[in-house]
Amino acid sequence: MGSTMRAVVLCGGEGTRLRPFTHTQAKHLLPVAGKPVVEHALAAVRATGIRDVGIVVSPSVEGQFRERLGDGSRLGLSVTYIVQPEPKGLAHAVLCAQSYVGNGPFLVYLGDNLLQGGITGVVNLFRSQSPAAVVTLRRVEDPRRFGVAVLEDGRLVRLVEKPPNPPSDLAIVGAYAFTPLVFQAAREVKPSFRGELELTDCLQWLIDHGHPVLPYEADGWWQDVGRPADLLVANRLLLSQIESRVEGEVDRGSTVDGPVVVERGARVVASRVVGPAVIGEEAVIERSTVGPHAAVGPRAVVREATVADTILMDGSRVEQGARIVGAVLGRGARVHLPMGKPSSAFLGDESTLEVKEEG
Ligand code: TTP
Repeated sequence: MGSTMRAVVLCGGEGTRLRPFTHTQAKHLLPVAGKPVVEHALAAVRATGIRDVGIVVSPSVEGQFRERLGDGSRLGLSVTYIVQPEPKGLAHAVLCAQSYVGNGPFLVYLGDNLLQGGITGVVNLFRSQSPAAVVTLRRVEDPRRFGVAVLEDGRLVRLVEKPPNPPSDLAIVGAYAFTPLVFQAAREVKPSFRGELELTDCLQWLIDHGHPVLPYEADGWWQDVGRPADLLVANRLLLSQIESRVEGEVDRGSTVDGPVVVERGARVVASRVVGPAVIGEEAVIERSTVGPHAAVGPRAVVREATVADTILMDGSRVEQGARIVGAVLGRGARVHLPMGKPSSAFLGDESTLEVKEEG
């Protein structure tokens, strides 16, 4: 059984809170620390030993996923795409994957959740105890904005969505393992007040029908990517784990301090790079200071500028005196702010922020 376990990574949904970026790209394909959010999630799946992954996607972005991830072999995985026709909730997304997972147990991971310690513990607990489900939990300071779990004798007995008076500080994290019993649950539960089939209701259904649901308590950080500011938090957390690797060119007039990745074809000229930072393929850094916590995308350009705590997507440009701190620039976006004070901005693909010099 164990070796055939499959994973289902949920990347459907609309990502409305991440507009403008999600007008043009799927949320899970937005880059954080040099690669798409979902590739960080897929790396965590691969670390569990699972190789077969079904990725649930919305119809409008299926092509983007196929283009970026292909059959998954670049990541050491065998990827199958499962289209969820409409974003009708997490349990609906899981139902869409039923024929893919068949009769075996499977892992479910939300493709926008990032966990410092990975998800191997979920799979290991499931394999050793064979419950109906394992749910990942994480202690949080303010549980009111999460799904919250109540435990008794080491088992889950109750789940509550966004409780005003939380019964515990254990928030439900987006990593689960299930037996196919969850499909029966998903068929029986009714849509919630927001019109979605909820995975928490399926878990409560399993509990109410006498099936054991076990907690896996994650430690280390947990970050989901829901809003633009989350991209920057995730960027900082993931960059803090990188190791130096320089494959591009760093000229003699430049200095590099701390953990820095310079990808193939990138050029750093007369500049200072302060790690942690990632400079993507064929990016150009000239007479600039980049980092800490900067992720410069492929073919992006930073010229006579300062960039820190920022994500620059593919082909974006920061030029001529601009000082950018805490910003996300979409693909091909351009910032031109001569002699500016430090600026922050969330700019969608192809947008421009420019201040003209007087005279
Ligand atoms: P959410 O962040 O709750 O929803 P969303 O991605 O549509 O974002 P927004 O609220 O900004 O519109 O989704 C959590 C995860 O579950 C995310 O990885 C997307 C996935 N998902 C599905 O696969 N199918 C669905 O029907 C829904 C609602 C979410």
